[in-house]
Amino acid sequence: MLSDDDRDLMRAVSDYLRRVNELTAQDARPSRTPLGDLLSEHLATDAAQVSVVQELIADHRLVDADIALEALAADGDGRLIGVTGGDQRHHQGLAEFVTNSHVRYAPGPVDYAERATGPSSSKRVVSLGIRLLQFDGSPIALAQRAAAPQFGRQTAMVEVMGTDPDAVTRFLEALRRTMVERSVLRGQVLSFQPTEYGRDAGATFVARPSVAADDIVLPDGVLDEIVQHVITIGTHRAALQRAEQHLKRGVLLYGPPGTGKTLTVRHLLSATPDATAVVLTGSSIRFVSAAAEIARTFQPAIVVLEDIDLVAMERHASPQPLLFEVLDALDGLDGDADVAFIMTTNRVEVLERALAERPGRVDLAVEVPLPALPERRRLFRRYAHNLPYSDDALDAAAQRSEGTTGSFAKELIRRSVLRAAKAERTPGDDDLTAELTRLMDSREQLTRTMLGSGTEARAHTPPDGHVAGFGWSAG
Ligand SMILES: Nc1ncnc2c1ncn2[C@@H]1O[C@H](COP(=O)(O)OP(=O)(O)O)[C@@H](O)[C@H]1O
Ligand SMILES: [Mg+2]
Repeated sequence: MLSDDDRDLMRAVSDYLRRVNELTAQDARPSRTPLGDLLSEHLATDAAQVSVVQELIADHRLVDADIALEALAADGDGRLIGVTGGDQRHHQGLAEFVTNSHVRYAPGPVDYAERATGPSSSKRVVSLGIRLLQFDGSPIALAQRAAAPQFGRQTAMVEVMGTDPDAVTRFLEALRRTMVERSVLRGQVLSFQPTEYGRDAGATFVARPSVAADDIVLPDGVLDEIVQHVITIGTHRAALQRAEQHLKRGVLLYGPPGTGKTLTVRHLLSATPDATAVVLTGSSIRFVSAAAEIARTFQPAIVVLEDIDLVAMERHASPQPLLFEVLDALDGLDGDADVAFIMTTNRVEVLERALAERPGRVDLAVEVPLPALPERRRLFRRYAHNLPYSDDALDAAAQRSEGTTGSFAKELIRRSVLRAAKAERTPGDDDLTAELTRLMDSREQLTRTMLGSGTEARAHTPPDGHVAGFGWSAG
């Protein structure tokens, strides 16, 4: 039972709480911030009454946005200011910078971040700032910000305020156009890496490889056929377009591991210095639609999907296997897009049925076979070109190494040089012969398999694509 005293006390507490609620509600009434005053002055109207238009931007395109906004600001008498207000400013949008019940946002220092503009260059870009400028004779205020996954913001973003809605629309069109015209992605070789928060991926720059046609040993005509299809179609773009022939092409390179598929792709990229290229290996193939979007935007372009068999049947964003997402991405591109899709695989049988069921996506499939005797001769000569081995010894090695690959030839020569180095003498035919005997020994079966020789190799294909994609970092 409650006593009268208890009741009085409870009534008093309850009155007190109601009063607290009333007072805090009054305090929390949103009011215009000093930053809001500045924006109001620029827009020549109460900024609290102006709506905000949001443009989401993939974070790897923040540099493009920064360059484009700098250009538009330079043309439009622009001013750049930062925002005070602690970490809170990463959670709140432009409208909350203008009117706020808790934080008195005010002009402050601009936040910057260093972003790559190429494989070995970077630029300081605005990661949180406000730009005030004129566009088409009309005042525009905008907030520019980088993605901040630690604050739950997955993409970069531009938020635009303007008193004339048409001017805002035209401004956003100009922004998108300038971002494409002046993009740092154009003409670069890119790969896609998942961000540390996993969900999205960003394009990162890769140095363009340098591999000459002479560096590749393939049966006569094979390299030529691939080059013709990938490069020559682009060279004759105008003639093909006039005759209403499609430019888009899909190429499949298949054959045992270690036979030179990656090397061939690297040659194609070095022979197309102006093309934008996106290289996806193994699990990063799940970003194929983002890659296709970049290719479409920055034509002429090449999309490389390396070792696609490793992930072809995996499911990621959609219920259908990744291979079908790849085929859809290919399908989604206009026929007159100057884009080449190049896929490589060690196990064509994994893909064959799916490709047969949806014909027309791949218009050239080329086998990159195990080297036959004449190719092995050339391979040994090529990798031993600066070593004092006799023609006879090299020929004998080629004879004895049936079923091995280009990467085997390279490794054999390396081992023969190492053998001589250990004995502190210049390499000779004996070193070559001895190492060949060792490598061809049955105990070295697994090594040979790892170098991609013979049918056994298929069972040992690395599961995650990283080892298979090794050729990219090896330079
Ligand atoms: N046909 C070839 N001509 C010259 N070198 C080759 C050839 N095949 C393989 N190699 C050597 O072996 C390395 C690995 O070959 P790679 O192209 O990665 O094989 P794949 O992609 O077919 O598995 C190459 O970087 C190159 O040094
Ligand atoms: Mg490869």
